[in-house]
Amino acid sequence: MDRRRGGETVDRLMAQMTLAEKIGQLNLLAAGEGLVTGAATATPLAKRLDAGQVGAIFGTKSLASARGLQDRALAGSRLKIPLFFAEDVIHGHRTVFPLPIALAASWDMALIEATAGFAAAEASAEGLHQVYAPMIDVSRDARWGRMAESPGEDPHLAGAIAAAMTRGLQGDDPAGPGRVAACLKHFVAYGAPLSGRDYDNASLAWEDLLEIYLPPFAQGVAAGAVSVMAAFNAVNKLPMHAHEPLIEGWLRGQTGFDGLVVSDYTGIRELTAHGLGSPATVVLRALAAGIDMDMVGEDYLTHLPALAEAGLDAPEAGLSVPAERVRALIDRACARVLGFKARLGLLDDPWRKLTGTPAAPDRAEGRALARKAAARSAVLLKNDGLLPLDPGARVALIGPLARDRANMLGTWAVSGRAADVTPLFEAMTAIAGHPPAHAPGCNLVEEDWLIDRLNVHGVTVTRDPRPEAEMLAEAVAVAQAADIVVVALGEAKEHAGESSSRLCPDLPAPQRRLLDALAATGTPLVVAVFAGRALALGGVDGRCGALLYAWHGGIAGPEGVADLIFGRAEPSGRLPVTLPAAPGQTPVCHAEDPTGRPWTGRFVKFRTGWLDLSGDRQPYPFGFGLSYTEVDYAPPRLSATDAGPEDRVRLSVTLTNTGPRPATETVQVYLSDPEARITRPARHLVAFRQVDLAPGEARELVFEIGADLARYPLAPSLETARWVRDPGRIVLHVGPNSRDTRPVELTWRA
Ligand code: NOJ
Repeated sequence: MDRRRGGETVDRLMAQMTLAEKIGQLNLLAAGEGLVTGAATATPLAKRLDAGQVGAIFGTKSLASARGLQDRALAGSRLKIPLFFAEDVIHGHRTVFPLPIALAASWDMALIEATAGFAAAEASAEGLHQVYAPMIDVSRDARWGRMAESPGEDPHLAGAIAAAMTRGLQGDDPAGPGRVAACLKHFVAYGAPLSGRDYDNASLAWEDLLEIYLPPFAQGVAAGAVSVMAAFNAVNKLPMHAHEPLIEGWLRGQTGFDGLVVSDYTGIRELTAHGLGSPATVVLRALAAGIDMDMVGEDYLTHLPALAEAGLDAPEAGLSVPAERVRALIDRACARVLGFKARLGLLDDPWRKLTGTPAAPDRAEGRALARKAAARSAVLLKNDGLLPLDPGARVALIGPLARDRANMLGTWAVSGRAADVTPLFEAMTAIAGHPPAHAPGCNLVEEDWLIDRLNVHGVTVTRDPRPEAEMLAEAVAVAQAADIVVVALGEAKEHAGESSSRLCPDLPAPQRRLLDALAATGTPLVVAVFAGRALALGGVDGRCGALLYAWHGGIAGPEGVADLIFGRAEPSGRLPVTLPAAPGQTPVCHAEDPTGRPWTGRFVKFRTGWLDLSGDRQPYPFGFGLSYTEVDYAPPRLSATDAGPEDRVRLSVTLTNTGPRPATETVQVYLSDPEARITRPARHLVAFRQVDLAPGEARELVFEIGADLARYPLAPSLETARWVRDPGRIVLHVGPNSRDTRPVELTWRA
């Protein structure tokens, strides 16, 4: 059978199915407690399975549980249509890799693909067919907790990551051994909520939607992604679960996507809270918009039977749909669900991935990959020559995250185990051969109500009952007796993630007080920040000699950090988001549109900026990161400065590693268009390449540049959008980050 379309099997099944059976296929439920074997009363899930009212299940926790559910589903299905199983495998499954925002900081697509490939193999060995990843929401607002899961602020980088993860998860065939179906999420602009509040709506120019938020989805589709999840938010007034123009129009109409679209958790019924009408009305809106499966809410199951009988006439909601149209929409969605099952090989073999003893990948290999990924994800922001440390030095390790396990996993590590994490204290001990002196120094946060919220998915934050002054005094004494102090600061895992927006994305107050006290000792400080977002660090770098942004790095996160600290690995991470200096600077991004009175980087009267931002507080720019060596960039050169519309121009730059250690350098190319029809970003990333350089090595890199790079959308509305490319001058900026670049100018002829 041609699995890509499902072809005849889907048609044959559709011809045999009753309306109720079709509606059952659209129901996507959580495993919850699963099946309780031998229980006197069947669970609600079991009842649904017995009645053939479930199309798929997410959140099974073992192969045995998936097998039990499949067995029950097949018994309850007249036509023996199997379930498929899905799970949130966001940055690893059992082997937890660094957070997606951290992996983005590696700028290493082969590494990202490898982590996704490993996660797919682990997931597949547990009977999962689909994972709810990659999350590819461009995110520029550090208040938003889901920045942790995102690829960062830039659509070009996000698009490359969408493709790399899709390839890693699906390989050539999502039904193949060790592979799973990718699900691009959250469609779309979920990363642009008002005020950074999770679930809030996004109002933006259609141009921004087309150029910033949609391209990563196009890249994921081009890489073969077979499913997509809708976002909770509204985009320009229309909630995404009802957004026919974007789902049926753009996604299916313009990218060639022919897979499955699932709702987010109860996203269909939430359309009522959005103000889109009665429960039955919103069901019809979602179905018409192209949401094929209803996650958890069971609103399709509840309302579609009557709608299919009588249609809907809801003049108050501006909606009138005859019954035959409803039935056609049900058929459309059901055929897509069956087509997806066919694509997963489940219509050939309902037990695919569920029989035998599937080989799980080697966990030791996964751990080594996780450690490498953690070292490559950490970004060295400052180094006054303190790092790397001599393992023989008298080092103290202070801070509330110094011995932490659970928070290191990061948010959305639903199958991870804290016991698998090696804490920084142990990782440093293993390398140095002796333990560092240690004191916690302070609590992660002080407020009991906040600790309760951070512990919502299990206790990861506990409170030392001692008075703060006593903890500080102990830490100061430890610091005074050391040659150098490593300070482990940051966020709890649930400080970031879903429903974890922060008003003030900076280091919690007790940690700032600890840093002040340690800085006052005069002992040199190396600060390592473990976090799930781009924390505003203004004021931190002035108090330390070295600053390493380590994110939440997964099971081997602290080991990767220890490798960097002692020079067993070379720092190569580059920021995938601008790190604000002050929390109020967010949202912030390298690709902002210029104003008539551009920001100068510090306050100047009558210029775009902040009155109360002191001059010593500068953001760390997008793309920024240091190494333990120096890489020199020669001035970039163009093969022509004037070119026809179809010409390719070669942009060359020669790099030389002038320092004593190896480098992995990420060369970045930005573009600005100073003369356009609308205001264009001051600069935006158009290309990057990573290259290894031995000490003393020089290499020339060549980028092929075409006029297509300067295309941009004009979009008074989504329907009237068109992409244009004007002749004239553009500027290309080449360098190691978005700030420290050198320009070359190029003129495109008409
Ligand atoms: C809600 C989240 O928004 C989504 O990312 C996740 O995949 C689903 N819940 C299922 O857990």
